[in-house]
Amino acid sequence: MTTEHLPADSGSGRKPRIGDEVELEIGAVAHGGHCVARWDTRVVFVRHALPGERARVRLTDVSHAGYFRADAIAILRPDARRVTPRCGHFRPGGCGGCDFQHADPVRQLELKAAVVAEQLSRIAGIERQVQVEALPGRVDGDAGYGWRTRVRWALDADGRIGPRAARSHQVVGISVAAPCEIAAPGLTELATVLEVPERVRRLRGGGHRKLPEVTLTHAADGAPIAVWAGAGAEVPLITETVAGRDFSVAADGFWQVHPEAAAVLYAAVGEAFDGVELTGGTAWDLYGGVGLFAAELADRVGPTGAVLTVEGDATATESAAANLADLPQVRAVNGRVEQVLDELADRVDAVVLDPPRSGAGRAVCVALAARQPSVIVYVACDPAALARDTAALAEAGYRLDTLRAFDCFPQTHHIECVARFVPDPSSR
Ligand SMILES: C[S@@+](CC[C@H](N)C(=O)[O-])C[C@H]1O[C@@H](n2cnc3c(N)ncnc32)[C@H](O)[C@@H]1O
Repeated sequence: MTTEHLPADSGSGRKPRIGDEVELEIGAVAHGGHCVARWDTRVVFVRHALPGERARVRLTDVSHAGYFRADAIAILRPDARRVTPRCGHFRPGGCGGCDFQHADPVRQLELKAAVVAEQLSRIAGIERQVQVEALPGRVDGDAGYGWRTRVRWALDADGRIGPRAARSHQVVGISVAAPCEIAAPGLTELATVLEVPERVRRLRGGGHRKLPEVTLTHAADGAPIAVWAGAGAEVPLITETVAGRDFSVAADGFWQVHPEAAAVLYAAVGEAFDGVELTGGTAWDLYGGVGLFAAELADRVGPTGAVLTVEGDATATESAAANLADLPQVRAVNGRVEQVLDELADRVDAVVLDPPRSGAGRAVCVALAARQPSVIVYVACDPAALARDTAALAEAGYRLDTLRAFDCFPQTHHIECVARFVPDPSSR
């Protein structure tokens, strides 16, 4: 690694290299957990800094034509709301799981709001003031730590178990002395006493490049559970409860990772349907998981209506059918949304969609708009994907109405949005 300090004008006459250090003024926050700085004409995405700070940064990636990546290694002019990160793994070159532990909790909400607004503006051409709401009881003191009830950690050849370092396959070794501070109580302890199943051990020895992974879950209804990917063992079901209804979900299946998130999103989705008469109507819950939002839609359409929940994972679809078996108006379908949509009715009254990080995509947005629902409620875990799909829906005749954003992932750059789309008469 080079310790030579390049002048800020990069006029040293040689190409910058990983490890080079330079002092930079730190600009706005950008999507992905970093801030934007400029070094000559070059954009530098800097982790571990805050907007308005001056920092010495170390280059971590110079492989792209248009930009570099860097870590702030010394803060020369700190922001007033910079705080000391609690986690020892939150540092340059360290864990990639958290991005904002160095900002106080309210500043984190502002950073995330700025990112959502910027993505909507740049990608969808929509100017919107965004406020990110903290989840109940989770903004002060300890509340931003110990919340993550599910983690998926990797096992490396040296027996280390933990999350990966930022933009790297290197495993960050988690131990009781150096725990993951956002993981729910008991998960770090469980990781340190895990037996690696024989089948997973063989995978590791077989020259596979992909590291074995384990999901650790702290369900509301019991002790922490570990599920190794590829172990071939039966995966236990756990129970989560929202609005008085129990949902069975595989211990390694999808469920919101913050203990308050599912209930908050369920309420926000319900609120987005307020004032819309759906009794006896039809509704789709796309990317439905184990049926969380289908339960809300079933209430809205009532026993004379019909709800279809579509989910790509067979186990989750089975759980959805079982979880909602007492609601005969709900049908659970296993399949990929983009394929199943072709076979569905050509009219629907209401849609909820909660796609993975990549978003629903243009084809799905266009196909949905063609069914002329009176409301589309989009639950989004990635603001860039939400902005892309907002643009696609706008072209197809739907405008963004209300937008709420929630801090379901404190200390990280991740944000969950609930966006309501309605027909835009002016585009028809
Ligand atoms: C963000 S989760 C939402 C789950 C559910 N709405 C909830 O809140 O618990 C996204 C879900 O979409 C499923 N999925 C991913 N890609 C899919 C596709 N192309 N078609 C159908 N389901 C898909 C995943 O298995 C996952 O259960």
